[in-house]
Amino acid sequence: MDMDTYRIACVPGDGVGPELMDVALGVLECVQSKVSGFKLEPVVRDVGYERWVRTGEFIEEHGRRFGGICEATVRDLRDTDAMLYIATSGGSFPKEFTTPFPVLRRRFNVYANVRPARSYPGLPCLRPDIDLVLVREQTEGMWMGNEVEVEPGVIKATATVTRAASMRVARFAFEMARRRNRKKKVTCVHKSNVLRLAFGQFVEACAEVAADFPDIQFEEMHTDVLPYVLVRTPQELDVVVTTNMYGDAVSGETAAIVGGLGVCPSGEYGDEYAIFRPVHGSAPDIAGKNVANPVATLLSAAMMLDWLSRKRGNVALARASGLLEGAVASVLGEGRLLTRDLGGHSTTSEFARAVCRRLTNA
Ligand code: NAI
Ligand code: MG
Repeated sequence: MDMDTYRIACVPGDGVGPELMDVALGVLECVQSKVSGFKLEPVVRDVGYERWVRTGEFIEEHGRRFGGICEATVRDLRDTDAMLYIATSGGSFPKEFTTPFPVLRRRFNVYANVRPARSYPGLPCLRPDIDLVLVREQTEGMWMGNEVEVEPGVIKATATVTRAASMRVARFAFEMARRRNRKKKVTCVHKSNVLRLAFGQFVEACAEVAADFPDIQFEEMHTDVLPYVLVRTPQELDVVVTTNMYGDAVSGETAAIVGGLGVCPSGEYGDEYAIFRPVHGSAPDIAGKNVANPVATLLSAAMMLDWLSRKRGNVALARASGLLEGAVASVLGEGRLLTRDLGGHSTTSEFARAVCRRLTNA
């Protein structure tokens, strides 16, 4: 049989990144020995804070220096079919270091940041029946960091909202609701009663796209209502689409209601390429101890296989994705091998080995 080979860019990054990438690659090997019809070829590259400390390398774009990456690395990453990226340290470090992620987002033109939040038996969840997906526009808006000091003590931060980017992410959300085939509902979250033009245009774009999807219910919700609904009736949400900064803010809550950062995967999708990574950061407080929860990384890998399957029309990849998610859910559900963040005592590698055993016996 002709074997389809896919090149996977693998960026371990900082902190818990390397140990989580190790277990991800091991589990992906297991998946491949279980399901025939595709082969993954990892292309591992070093990107991030630790590389920046070691080499001082950066890429300059829009007058800003993004650290721990260079053009040769971008070229290598480009020559792949999808990317699995664990995490980059950033925040509290010296001001001259800026995380390289914006460069990757621009170069790979990934515009829809997708964060599923799902209850699994065995996970400490708010309710047993949560199954929602947050879709966040990620190429514009306040989050892009356009700010100037107009005079001492006065800062002006500006958000750009374009009709084109709003339409693009809206269409993505509706297609996702159709494909998921669950509640068949898209909830557009905005504050157009205050920012009439910017959010007004965003919600109008969503409503316009909704007309092309008569099978999908469309609803609007204000930004202050969503956090309330997430706590009170999250089981009624299906696909939630919103703008960049607000989506970032609320994604912490969507993670919290289903067991926390350790279990939440994400995907950043463009029309041609996609980047998959856990929602959590580099977790320096637990790095190198073999205690990080690998669930977020493994579910991100499952999302990657699913996207590749649709993109390349290879059903073996969809089967692999389903088996991987099922194996993770089954180990969680058994509740014997949970990591510390979920109240258990298991290590990263013990959990991953259990997932491999499930896969082998599936
Ligand atoms: P974080 O997500 O790294 O950690 C927050 C808390 O959750 C910590 O107590 C950590 O131990 C725990 N945690 C995170 N992932 C876990 C896992 N897989 N298993 C068990 N526990 C886990 O966020 P924090 O501490 O705010 O940031 C740490 C560094 O990561 C910072 O330098 C920050 O800039 C960076 N960061 C990077 C992100 C990315 O690359 N996507 C996202 C968020 C933060
Ligand atoms: Mg964040």
